[in-house]
Amino acid sequence: MREKRPIIALDFPNAESVKAFLKLFPAEEKLFVKIGMELYYSAGPDIVRYVKDLGHSVFLDLKLHDIPNTVKSAMAVLAELGVDMANVHAAGGVEMMKAAREGLGQGPKLLAVTQLTSTSEEQMRADQNIQTTLAESVSHYAQKTNLAGLDGIVCSAHEVVAIKQVLGEEFLCLTPGIRPIGSSEGDQKRVVTPNQARSIGSDYIVVGRPITQAQDPLNAYYAVYKSWNDLDV
Ligand code: C5P
Repeated sequence: MREKRPIIALDFPNAESVKAFLKLFPAEEKLFVKIGMELYYSAGPDIVRYVKDLGHSVFLDLKLHDIPNTVKSAMAVLAELGVDMANVHAAGGVEMMKAAREGLGQGPKLLAVTQLTSTSEEQMRADQNIQTTLAESVSHYAQKTNLAGLDGIVCSAHEVVAIKQVLGEEFLCLTPGIRPIGSSEGDQKRVVTPNQARSIGSDYIVVGRPITQAQDPLNAYYAVYKSWNDLDV
């Protein structure tokens, strides 16, 4: 099986810090990076073009959620930028997710966020008036995501086995909340190692601070890479 790249969360405040970070890697090392709201709103589409021009792959994590027509047009813009992966909130509904797919086209991967992992079951019941378990809500949204023709969901590694049981192995699970052995958990709870995520069946892992804030980001990246691909360290 082909080796898989861990996705590095480029949670930096501006383009300068991203450029400095990427310079730490050899030019031939083609990365898969995640650009989230903070960086995108600060540096704009130019940062996506910059990263793509270096030959890296981009997951643009903007979690779109609006009326179908607006999401479709926005996704068409992101497709023009050449993103490799984008996402929406499943709460926007099947029609919105189908529109997102139409706008983005079939090439890039399209994922949905079900319940944010920062949402507790109590909050879901009180704030969203969804009177069921969190697991049931995640599974429900995952099924709607599949129905809409998306590729998969963003979820906790702890949800992967149950999701794959319902939707099959082909349905993609991208999991953040990854910590290499010995690194600080930060504000993440219930973390797993890259190797555990692999055993659980995650298709993609997102790793931020254990790489971006490391003393030696290049070596931290290689260690995560090896653990994720189950290579001898
Ligand atoms: O630094 P760290 O590895 O915790 O970064 C994880 C990245 O994944 C961040 O960009 C964070 O916003 C994102 N994320 C997460 N948990 C989720 C969804 C996304 O940590 N449930």
